[in-house]
Amino acid sequence: MKIVIGSDHAGTQLKSYLVDIAQKLGHQVNDIGTFGSQSADYPDIAYTAACQVTTGLADTAVLICGTGIGMSLAANKVKGIRAAVCWNQQTAELARKHNDANILCLGARIMGKQACKKIMETFLSAVPSSQDRHGRRVAKIMNIEERICTGEDK
Ligand code: RB5
Repeated sequence: MKIVIGSDHAGTQLKSYLVDIAQKLGHQVNDIGTFGSQSADYPDIAYTAACQVTTGLADTAVLICGTGIGMSLAANKVKGIRAAVCWNQQTAELARKHNDANILCLGARIMGKQACKKIMETFLSAVPSSQDRHGRRVAKIMNIEERICTGEDK
């Protein structure tokens, strides 16, 4: 799988660790930074990675910041992205199975390295459910991108 991986300054150590793990699993990894300890703005990294996913340059992305939340908020602004913050293997599996998440977000300041390794492995190996109800709900998520709120929305 082609994986783009990025972090802000809070996630560089965890990123290096996960790059190594993903490569050892046989994935083609594109590390887009940030590198070193200088402060970096997570929306910039999230945008670059999200665009690589939606344009097909990458199959998926792993984005790391302090909590994973900033990365997910920014990535989800890009049309076509379903970025999920996952905090254990069950949420990682369900994010793929039920939500067809195409980006994994991790919080380097609140999660341990070993847990993140297992979460990433689970996320990369799980596949979206073929059950109609999950497909229908994912389609509804994506349809929200096309809608404009009027104040009388249902
Ligand atoms: C950076 O200090 C921190 O705010 C960022 O890594 C992230 O946690 C934001 O969601």
